[in-house]
Amino acid sequence: ANIRHYKFNVVMKNMTKLCSTKPIVTINGKFPGPTLYAREDDNVIVNLTNNVSYNVTIHWHGVKQLRTGWSDGPAYITQCPVQPGGNFIYNFTLTGQRGTLLWHAHISWLRATVHGAIVILPKRGVPYPFPRPHTDKVIVFGEWWKSDVEDVIKQSTQSGLPPNLSDAHTINGLTGPITGCNNSHGYTIHVETGKSYLLRIINAAVNDELFFKIAQHNLTVVEVDASYTKPYNTETLFLGPGQTANAVLTANHPTGNFLMTISPFMDTVVPVDNATATAFLRYKNTTTTDSLTMSKTPPINATSIAQNFSDSLRSLNSLKYPTNVPLKIDHSLFFAIGVGVNPCATCINGTKTIADINNVTFVMPTMALLQAHYFNKSQGVFTDDFPGRPLTPFDYTGGNNSIPLSNLQTKNGTQVYRLEFNATVQIVIQGTSVIAPESHPTHLHGSNFFVVGKGLGNFDPLMDPKKFNLVDPVERNTVSVPTAGWTAIRFIADNPGVWFFHCHLEVHTSWGLKMAFLVEDGKDSNEKLPPPPSDLPKC
Ligand code: C2O
Repeated sequence: ANIRHYKFNVVMKNMTKLCSTKPIVTINGKFPGPTLYAREDDNVIVNLTNNVSYNVTIHWHGVKQLRTGWSDGPAYITQCPVQPGGNFIYNFTLTGQRGTLLWHAHISWLRATVHGAIVILPKRGVPYPFPRPHTDKVIVFGEWWKSDVEDVIKQSTQSGLPPNLSDAHTINGLTGPITGCNNSHGYTIHVETGKSYLLRIINAAVNDELFFKIAQHNLTVVEVDASYTKPYNTETLFLGPGQTANAVLTANHPTGNFLMTISPFMDTVVPVDNATATAFLRYKNTTTTDSLTMSKTPPINATSIAQNFSDSLRSLNSLKYPTNVPLKIDHSLFFAIGVGVNPCATCINGTKTIADINNVTFVMPTMALLQAHYFNKSQGVFTDDFPGRPLTPFDYTGGNNSIPLSNLQTKNGTQVYRLEFNATVQIVIQGTSVIAPESHPTHLHGSNFFVVGKGLGNFDPLMDPKKFNLVDPVERNTVSVPTAGWTAIRFIADNPGVWFFHCHLEVHTSWGLKMAFLVEDGKDSNEKLPPPPSDLPKC
């Protein structure tokens, strides 16, 4: 294994999109930021220097961080932020991991502009479990606001109203041509007939689950969230924020220009966001002036296409890549998640939108949970009584009228759920339809999980587990919980530390749809979290 050194300078940079210019926070002046390249088992060392006036942290989304929780990155969960002028070295090993992931800022809404790809190749000499493609292309989806993104969330917090929708989407930082804006252009993939390409696709958007489609070309998904899948052929790809996919594209036309599009999926009545971004697939011997074959992503509310994509994914489960789903469960948890409204005296309507898990709206501490835990200073920082099920069970998906009001109210808390080392965990994540029924792409730090079941309506504890897939469930780090439905996941708590669990729609995280697991040390020295690095920032 090698050591890969990177320098991340956090700097402001003026960027022009939609014909308007604003300064944004970037890494090394790039949007999206630099791609991290490594191989399985490599040691990655990223030296971060903060040259902006915001506090910054970086999260390596999907990197397991086995016993390196200090480098995981979520602000106030595993570390205090790197302050203006400060410096921190992230140091971790990609143990047993390969595939496509992403890194992103993990504080406030900075990840809107501070994100990039992580490409982890297999170990030298180890082939892919599919024919080797001619070359790779990294494709990063993003979301763009004309105004300052930190202002968008600040205003929302103060007013109690939902934040403004983004003004555009981007593919590798570009919107594609926009009517009325001359210098906008799109990203182009150049291909040659007969060759195949490995598209490493990343949804780094802030609040939107996205469809992706290339005109007249099917894609074969071979991996999601850096875990191999059985090859799955599809016209449309569907990724929530934080999710990634490797898909093989075969250039099987003689020539041509083909449109690529992304557009949001929203399984809710309000608000509607119809922004799309476009890019191009261009064959050799084709010029920009040759005619363009159009494509259209599904309509915004194409629930069945979104569901069908996620439901079709299966882990490879081969001799070489076995799927080790835990069969015996130590902690069987039920998380009712949703968006609601609490009273707020200082807010415009006297109310503010909040979100919760099991009636707890998570409040960020002022000291990092991992430090508080490691140094036995949890008192006044967090408690370990996070409820394993809702305080009062109710009809989660029956519609507004049947729900007793008490379930709308949440209490604020900084609570964690404690797991002993190597405990096996099942979480049934139940989406509720209390106020705004919505799909939630839910993300766990520190471990991948297996998606063993999914359904609509209320989870049935007697019947539904009988239908769980314990043979080849897909392994992921972020999973969609369907609108007014549920998803069941399983994982092993074999990584000591404090691990964030949250909705990866940043707006829902801001509203409190988050909690953390505390995984205790094991007995052996290689089962314990080592002490923090000496340069770990102070709060
Ligand atoms: Cu990609 Cu806690 O996030």
